[in-house]
Amino acid sequence: MYHNPVMLQECIEGLQINPNGIYVDVTFGGGGHSKLILEGLQEGHLYAFDQDSDAKRNIPEDSRFTLIHENFRFLKNFLRLQGVKKIDGLLADLGVSSHQFDTAERGFSTRFDGPIDGRMDQRGNITGSQILNSYDLQELTNMFRLYGELKNAYKISQHIVNTREDNPFDSIQNLKNSLLPLAPKFRENKFYAQVFQALRIEVNQELEALKEMLVQSEQIMNPKGRLVILSYHSLEDRIAKNFIKTGNVHGELHKDFYGKIQNPWLAINRKPIMATEEEIETNSRARSARLRIAEKTDE
Ligand SMILES: C[S@@+](CC[C@H](N)C(=O)[O-])C[C@H]1O[C@@H](n2cnc3c(N)ncnc32)[C@H](O)[C@@H]1O
Repeated sequence: MYHNPVMLQECIEGLQINPNGIYVDVTFGGGGHSKLILEGLQEGHLYAFDQDSDAKRNIPEDSRFTLIHENFRFLKNFLRLQGVKKIDGLLADLGVSSHQFDTAERGFSTRFDGPIDGRMDQRGNITGSQILNSYDLQELTNMFRLYGELKNAYKISQHIVNTREDNPFDSIQNLKNSLLPLAPKFRENKFYAQVFQALRIEVNQELEALKEMLVQSEQIMNPKGRLVILSYHSLEDRIAKNFIKTGNVHGELHKDFYGKIQNPWLAINRKPIMATEEEIETNSRARSARLRIAEKTDE
């Protein structure tokens, strides 16, 4: 299976689909969410984005569907190219697909040996190994601290900088062996997962893309349109939460002349919706999922 979709029903309910509306699934992947959106449409249309060319193999045969093989950080421009200026709902199921994670040569998972790649878009020009072999000490430290939430980010980075001249990092196994002395005893796998999460977020500029997409979603969303964001780690969830709460990605409250808070979004759920225990039992990826839904106000 390409990908087992998370919180399908909850996402579809969150979108409150208007059968004749224009919808965007910015993270098409295996098309699990898109399939259900299409079921809710009559005359409407679904545009989907995915920067991974492998996702093209999942395109449904449906004249109401268009796949845009691009990064969703260019949401507004690529929709405009399709003649779309306004939308009625947007779904983002962030992060990597199981297909990307389970394919050794894509270099996302520490379960296999292979290249340290981590690009969702195969056309991208920077890989995980290039980052390890070229970033300076400060850049590596920031990356591991912020994106991997690693306590010994500085030590890891120092080790990488000292090692790479003689032994450039070119394979997952070689990186794991080299970092083993810095991994906490009995928690090696979690440590490697954090290292790889940091690399993946940096390679794909995931947080920047998310912020840019959210800002554009507000500009093109029709009143009463729904924004549905499914995230898998606290960094993404914080961005989604702040954006819904304040209408901007900095999380700053803006007030008008009379002191009334200006925010184009109404949060449908104050706390993130979590997957049920039944779903987590059959799909372990659902465990860390957090769903936030907002409605565009009329203002
Ligand atoms: C978690 S999967 C989505 C799975 C999908 N909802 C399903 O039901 O199969 C995330 C997908 O979004 C894509 N993606 C992540 N960030 C992206 C971005 N900035 N632009 C375009 N696609 C992106 C990934 O390539 C991946 O295929």
